[in-house]
Amino acid sequence: MKYFLDSAKLDEIDRAYRDYGIDGVTTNPRHIMNSGKPFLTAITDIANWVKENHLEGKDVFPVSVEINPHLDNAADMIKEAKKIAAISENFVIKIPCNLEGLKAAKALEEEGIRTNVTLVFSPSQAIQAGRIGAKFVSPFVGWKEASGEDTFGYMSQLVNIYREKGYETEIIVAALRTGKQIAEAAEMGADIVTCGLAVFEESFLHPFTDLGLKKFQDAWDHTEGN
Ligand code: E4P
Repeated sequence: MKYFLDSAKLDEIDRAYRDYGIDGVTTNPRHIMNSGKPFLTAITDIANWVKENHLEGKDVFPVSVEINPHLDNAADMIKEAKKIAAISENFVIKIPCNLEGLKAAKALEEEGIRTNVTLVFSPSQAIQAGRIGAKFVSPFVGWKEASGEDTFGYMSQLVNIYREKGYETEIIVAALRTGKQIAEAAEMGADIVTCGLAVFEESFLHPFTDLGLKKFQDAWDHTEGN
């Protein structure tokens, strides 16, 4: 299972790539806002970072960039997606899963522009993303869980449908908040998970590791000859 970092902050992307070998990046308008940069500057900086690190290429290190969320018709979405896609071959265009968005994503994929159908909250939405051959589909788990909905059943149903139907669209389980959710996504057979750096780092740790290390340090200090 691949790990994508959900962030538009260059320092975080750089650290997550160097220290933990993340496989790609996902952004959204909130991440762009948190980067403190205007949209075009933020995404161009990421494209330049990709170049500097020799990660250029369609399938090497995908970076999902979301279109202006105010766009409400397929024609405008397609126009904007093409502009963004022209900046870097690593860019995959995030399109909202509504009627105009799905129309736009279908047309873009037919023209060879890769899409990530985002803001997906039901298996039936994900099915359409698979049918139109989107590169990625992003079911948001954290938001569903926060509203008290079942997420394990939702995710396994979605993954099973994709396997059964043979859709090539890769499933990015998104908006994860805990290591438990990361492990559940892996267990269900998700292709990719995306979350913030703090969630990844917390998932690599366990208090017993620290406790065990302390015990070993004490033993080391009491060993004859040390
Ligand atoms: C996924 O691609 C989204 O960018 C992301 O997971 C949104 O959720 P969050 O910002 O609430 O984590």
